[in-house]
Amino acid sequence: MESAIDYIKEKTGNFVPEIGIILGSGLGDFADNYESISIPYKEIPDFKSSNVQGHKGRLVFANIDGKKVVMMQGRYHFYEGHSMQTVTYPVKILKKLGVKFLIITNAAGAVNKNYKPGELMFITDHINFMGTNPLIGENDEELGTRFPDMSEIYSKELIEKAIKTAKRLNIKFQKGVYVATTGPSYETPAEIKMFSILGANAVGMSTVPEAIVANYCGLKVLGISCLTNYAAGVSKHPLNHSEVIETADKVKDNFKNLLSELIKEI
Ligand code: HPA
Repeated sequence: MESAIDYIKEKTGNFVPEIGIILGSGLGDFADNYESISIPYKEIPDFKSSNVQGHKGRLVFANIDGKKVVMMQGRYHFYEGHSMQTVTYPVKILKKLGVKFLIITNAAGAVNKNYKPGELMFITDHINFMGTNPLIGENDEELGTRFPDMSEIYSKELIEKAIKTAKRLNIKFQKGVYVATTGPSYETPAEIKMFSILGANAVGMSTVPEAIVANYCGLKVLGISCLTNYAAGVSKHPLNHSEVIETADKVKDNFKNLLSELIKEI
């Protein structure tokens, strides 16, 4: 990790980011508004170059309303064949760079029939349905403890701030439980029915690994899902990635406003 940190610090000088943001599918543009210093993942030692559709794959450092922010434009997904270590490595790097708050965003399918595509959902908790855990393996005691508590991964305080901000901006939002699958296939209607019975409100293929590692190493986490479609079986038509990107694109302005106002409050 030392060489990655050294490389980043060489480019950013004494910029110590306090807030980290992981930008999900279709939401990556947010960083373009503020760009000051950017570093492609492929240049950073031990980062793999990410090439998922619609993602640039770089760290963007910016001052936003006096707050020092580092944004991940593009993330590593487990379904791309990356290990859980690769998926969560950037979170550990952000922690080492000084980040205290991590906002994790994603595109997700609405499992709860009352939640609608185009709405944002603040994640209150998650269900890890990926069948593995990013903390498996040797533990780095410097980062966190072997058996970390996960009873409040998503900071209640940050959720309150997000709710206040959304209300002030007149942005419709929901709160709920996010369940993560590995993907890349979308779920079956039977799986979505099961997730609904288990208490999930939204489903996606990311966020959970990063949130587990962030909580483990003491970061305060806020999770925001952009509900892009009704999940399988809830939806009347077959799912496809373009629908996800299209809806995310429509929500982009609300999302940008919320995020930029929220940063001021943190
Ligand atoms: N399922 C899983 N991941 C997703 C979905 C979905 O319906 N929509 C966006 N990401």
